[in-house]
Amino acid sequence: MSENVHPKATSVAEFEKAANEKLSEFVRTYYSHPGEGGQTHRDNCRAFKRYRLIPRNLRDVYIRDTSVTVLGSKLDFPVAIAPTAVHKLAHPDAEVATAKGAASMNTSMVLSSWSHCSLEQVAAAAPRGVRWFYLLFYRDRGRMKRLLERAEWAGYTALVLTVDSPIYPFTLRKTPVVFPVQFRLPNVWLDDDVVPGSPGSLEQGSALTKITKNAATWEDVKWVKKNTRLPVVLKGILSGSIPEDARTAVDLGVSGIYVSNHGGREQDGLPATIDVLPDIVRAVGGEAEVYLDGGVRTGTDVLKALALGARCVFIGRPALWGLACNGAEGVQQVLQILKDELSLAMARAGT
Ligand SMILES: Cc1cc2nc3c(=O)[nH]c(=O)nc-3n(C[C@H](O)[C@H](O)[C@H](O)COP(=O)(O)O)c2cc1C
Repeated sequence: MSENVHPKATSVAEFEKAANEKLSEFVRTYYSHPGEGGQTHRDNCRAFKRYRLIPRNLRDVYIRDTSVTVLGSKLDFPVAIAPTAVHKLAHPDAEVATAKGAASMNTSMVLSSWSHCSLEQVAAAAPRGVRWFYLLFYRDRGRMKRLLERAEWAGYTALVLTVDSPIYPFTLRKTPVVFPVQFRLPNVWLDDDVVPGSPGSLEQGSALTKITKNAATWEDVKWVKKNTRLPVVLKGILSGSIPEDARTAVDLGVSGIYVSNHGGREQDGLPATIDVLPDIVRAVGGEAEVYLDGGVRTGTDVLKALALGARCVFIGRPALWGLACNGAEGVQQVLQILKDELSLAMARAGT
């Protein structure tokens, strides 16, 4: 993989194209991986294009403030990085590079449990960055407690529980996945674990099946809330008032409702996130912060999500495309594009 970004990439779409030219077929497929027919994956992007902005003209938009406070941390603009697995597939510096890219733009990154770099390494590489940690559900509460404590010690400021993956994919695996790079999973396996095989192997898959908890419930969320001082965010909420996942979460004291369909990688046939956002914002009624990811590719998409009530949006694949093209700098470039586009869209909308 060469280090240079496509010299003319001035939009997320161009970064996507440049990354896809560069990445191996294995990684391209892994990143796109649309569930079943990919309906939800496509809808996420297309749905944004159905919404229209009505501008207010002749307002003084000379100075625009894109900054936002998210769970008490001030970010320069409301676009942060969603948790995605194994950044080493995109770049040898892996999650450390992503964290540096995010910190250089003063925005937040959610570190996935499925990462090659340890949460401590990521914290040390970008100490000033705002970091959240995506924690898996495990059968052993002791393991969860140890990971919670590690995240707290390493300065992570929120915990993200992904609730739209009731069945972890490795529990269904019948044939091994042979990754083109070697990596480890230091935020899943603890120092005293004996880890069989490599990630993707059937041996490691069955060991993971033994320690993780499929079909987590609200009881697990309650346990996490009780056992950490960090704010808890639930990622993967799609139902607002009837039925009421967003409401139940707020009643449990969850701090952030993260509207997501996993970028269309889990269940296909789910609605586009932007389409369900207003219902969820209404159900939450200002009692928690509401975020969104899925299909955000331009600053105008960001503005539409904010206009419909999201406090901040997250990007999954676009950050990986930036990382693949140019490491930390590529992540920074993708974020800068979205920030500049948002600022321009705000001016044109008169806000
Ligand atoms: C390669 C890849 C790996 C992902 N890994 C995780 C993960 O470990 N945990 C998680 O909650 N979501 C994961 N996601 C979903 C993202 O957090 C996010 O919801 C999605 O990518 C947003 O859609 P977008 O890619 O259109 O921005 C992953 C997505 C991709 C593309």
